[in-house]
Amino acid sequence: MRKQIAAANWKMNKTLEDGKKLLNDILSGVGSLHEHQQVIFAVPFPYLIQCNEMIKGKKNLYISAQNCHHKTSGAYTGEVSVDMIHSIDIKYCIVGHSERREYFAESNAMLAEKVNLCLAKNIIPIFCCGEPLDIREAGSQNAFVEKQLEESLFHLDQEAVQKVVIAYEPIWAIGTGKTASSEQAQEMHAHLRNVIAGKYGKTVSENISILYGGSVKGANANEIFSQPDVDGGLVGGASLIAEEFLQIIAALK
Ligand code: PGA
Repeated sequence: MRKQIAAANWKMNKTLEDGKKLLNDILSGVGSLHEHQQVIFAVPFPYLIQCNEMIKGKKNLYISAQNCHHKTSGAYTGEVSVDMIHSIDIKYCIVGHSERREYFAESNAMLAEKVNLCLAKNIIPIFCCGEPLDIREAGSQNAFVEKQLEESLFHLDQEAVQKVVIAYEPIWAIGTGKTASSEQAQEMHAHLRNVIAGKYGKTVSENISILYGGSVKGANANEIFSQPDVDGGLVGGASLIAEEFLQIIAALK
């Protein structure tokens, strides 16, 4: 079975003290995970080292960065490179979250560079894609998301692309409380798997985990995750509350 993942995206929330308490509360409630299940915490940069210490030795738990820069190093004040993230033993990095695309003008081409840098250092990119509301209303979401994959991932070879985790996050469902229906999620996930199969073959497409993101919470995780092409979730708001996130973890296939 391909990896089933509950990924928390803390975004720009929590002080160090509050974050450690949240992580501790989740760690003490999480129980043992199946071989194919993973739980990932994308925490703010200043907390990466300490949070990584807290999960050390725990099976199938990982800490992730929320972003990285698209250049290797240099005069980019305030930015964080993939090499830096790698040097503190972080194994995952979110790439192309819609908030980064929108507020920091991240383009598909720039995200392709980030994906390359991550993979070169054995950091797994959690690559986010998803359409805005007007595109959904016009019914052109499939082509829109397909283009995001084409321009940021499809230069990769078979071996490399299988390492990427994809997160489908319709922008209109992020932080709005308005979740995509499980049918809408399944439809897009199946479409993306088809597109990947067209480019790389069915075996590759069956190996890639595709997470759903956008107002996932304890109460809807079961229904969404039970869809055959949904392999877990990337969770913002509900990942900041231990009981909610524990329920979401428990909903993994
Ligand atoms: P949300 O955020 O769960 O608060 O909608 C999801 C995300 O942005 O990854």
